[in-house]
Amino acid sequence: MAIGIQTAAYLFASILFILSLGSLSSQESAKRGVFYGIIGMAIAILATVLGEGVAGQVYIIVAIAIASVIGLMLARKVEMTSMPQLVAILHSFVGLAAVLVGFGSYLDPKTQSLHGAAHTIHLVEVFIGIFIGAITFTGSIIAWGKLEGKVRSKALMYPGRHAVNVSLLLACIVLGVLFASADGTNGLIYLYIMTVIASFIGVMLVMAIGGGDMPVVVSMLNSYSGWAASAAGFMLGNDLLIVTGALVGSSGAILSIHMCHAMNRSFFSVILGGFGNAPKGEAKAIEGEVTSLNHEEVAALLKEAKSIVIVPGYGMAVAKAQYPIYDMVQTLQKAGKKVRFAIHPVAGRLPGHMNVLLAEANVPYDIVLEMDEINEDMPNTDVVMVIGANDVVNPSAQDDPASSIYGMPVIEVWKAEKVIIMKRSMSAGYSGEDNPLFYKQNSEMLYGDAKVSVEKLLGFLKG
Ligand code: TAP
Repeated sequence: MAIGIQTAAYLFASILFILSLGSLSSQESAKRGVFYGIIGMAIAILATVLGEGVAGQVYIIVAIAIASVIGLMLARKVEMTSMPQLVAILHSFVGLAAVLVGFGSYLDPKTQSLHGAAHTIHLVEVFIGIFIGAITFTGSIIAWGKLEGKVRSKALMYPGRHAVNVSLLLACIVLGVLFASADGTNGLIYLYIMTVIASFIGVMLVMAIGGGDMPVVVSMLNSYSGWAASAAGFMLGNDLLIVTGALVGSSGAILSIHMCHAMNRSFFSVILGGFGNAPKGEAKAIEGEVTSLNHEEVAALLKEAKSIVIVPGYGMAVAKAQYPIYDMVQTLQKAGKKVRFAIHPVAGRLPGHMNVLLAEANVPYDIVLEMDEINEDMPNTDVVMVIGANDVVNPSAQDDPASSIYGMPVIEVWKAEKVIIMKRSMSAGYSGEDNPLFYKQNSEMLYGDAKVSVEKLLGFLKG
């Protein structure tokens, strides 16, 4: 393929990627956005594989075919609730690719023949690319472990960890200077040492972030993986990779900032591994007694209520309860009740998780309200049904500085007349924090799997 055609194809693919990101910003156009992305990626791959100077196309196409089959199988198998883990592990691949491209590019005889400023710039690209790539690689693996429940979700805090991180960063800068001044491929040893240190920094940065703040970490790693891809683009002299990486990097950073706002967290504190975020003092003692109702009693409460708010959380996703929930909502609406959903920005395990599930069950958008829209209406609500949510309705976030989720805005369900909490046990939410809501006087537990419980309630309501 002639260079001119390849450049035109790259430009077209870049435009499609920008259109894709733009369309993903609203539910109505999101499907179209995914489609633009697929077409853009297909053009990008073809233009690269068929480009000038690329040898062994057959091997590349076979590798792509095998990888596509594996990707397809994984994507078909993965449950919606495990999507964040899949995203995290895919970010780790981008990080690893940037590390491998960095080493390959450093050892490439063509780049060895560069001189003067061009040589120095290339070495800086290689060093920074491998540094970001290694942090993204190991950080994403730890994020995967935390989301999958293989690594403890509570923040790992040890005294002096910030000093250790800063010292490691300084060591990398010194290694970078030594690397840039080494002749030929003599700098390889500095690259190896830096890769080990950067990998360790990646582990420590994510280990230090508590379960409740993981949404920000996932989007932050998304951003890092973009910058790692962009760095790989500079090393390979591939404009499309630079543009695409920068798009992913900047959109991931914007998403992280939005999430930090939603969770009342400082962006810099999160990207620096929870700097200044340590919980203060002793945990507040929980007062009160836990009481529970059975399904028939809860159905009776619903029949009495005029205004009902449903707060879904991760448990609704696990139980796949959105379909019977919408059935129940329709039944209650037919009986003349005002029923609305309240969505917390980080409910579930990925941005917009609850919105996607409710849209899947055809719940109309106009009864799905954001946390800020519904909170002021809580005192006028008769019954709140918390279905598989926990951290997003935890009052400790407002009144217990010792809690790891202190400062995160939450849905103030306890201000309603009655709160029904539907979950299987008294176990904690993702952050690992106990929830004093369960002990409040106006709270009642309804134990059981969310889907089974809603179906039973529906039976009593219809009966
Ligand atoms: P969580 O705090 O994780 O609580 C979910 C609750 O659902 C659990 O306490 C669990 O209790 C219950 N549950 C699980 N399976 C169930 C089932 N089959 N039926 C009924 N209940 C079930 O969820 P949340 O309130 O949605 O908060 C989300 C948390 O995840 C936040 O801490 C957030 O920071 C974090 N997080 C969010 C994201 C994004 S981007 N949204 C990403 C990563 C992490 P039982 O075991 O007793 O049933």
